[in-house]
Amino acid sequence: MRKDMIAGNWKMNATHLDAIQMVQKLSYRLNDPDYERVEVVVHPPFTALRSAQTVIETDHLRIKLGAQNCHYAESGAYTGEISPGMLSKLSVSYVIVGHSERRHVFGEVDADINRKVKAVFETGMVPILAVGETEQERADGLTEEIVRGHFVAGTSGLTQDQVSSLVVAYEPVWAIGTGKTATPEDAGAVCSFIRDLAAGSFGGSADHMRILYGGSVNPGNVAAIMAKKDIDGALVGGASLDPDTFASVIRYWV
Ligand code: PGA
Repeated sequence: MRKDMIAGNWKMNATHLDAIQMVQKLSYRLNDPDYERVEVVVHPPFTALRSAQTVIETDHLRIKLGAQNCHYAESGAYTGEISPGMLSKLSVSYVIVGHSERRHVFGEVDADINRKVKAVFETGMVPILAVGETEQERADGLTEEIVRGHFVAGTSGLTQDQVSSLVVAYEPVWAIGTGKTATPEDAGAVCSFIRDLAAGSFGGSADHMRILYGGSVNPGNVAAIMAKKDIDGALVGGASLDPDTFASVIRYWV
């Protein structure tokens, strides 16, 4: 049985002071046993992780902490980078790897993304491997080919155990921050395709691997997306910045 997961990707928003308030407000909204069926994760910017961690630990909140990226090396001459070990020391549980903004704005390539995935696992955290096609690639009928490429390269060399705990986020690039969402049918079909791919390479681990959909998820569309059998959660950008709105996304069944 895969536990639902709703993760908020704050991107380059929120100072550490904002983060304290956002986490506190969110926790008030989640103060209801109904929410326990969902694993809730927030991914603040690096500079806000320590403050968010302090609030979560001091108040014993059941919100988990995630990071938006990391380097694959443990330390060294990599000016401006953050290592997996630095994140795990801050009680970070999840790291988004290969987000489309990393791939398309910062030029990250599959080989480095695979190294990051492995480094995150080796440090005891879980990667959220993001995959997805651009609008042009979809128009050209290349969605499955692109998603296969991202998934196969990103998971290369992983063990079955690692794949059981892996989280994959299917995020069509054209749906991110645009207000355009994939139809639940299209999103569900790609997520089923990803699970089949995982089953082909990693056998029964694929049944445990969680797959999130991301791209303009909001309180109005989340329920239909979550109803798809191979979608186990959502990676939420814009709608995660307001704690009330994010709480409504998390409580998608109401
Ligand atoms: P969005 O972002 O919800 O604002 O479209 C999603 C993401 O980039 O993870």
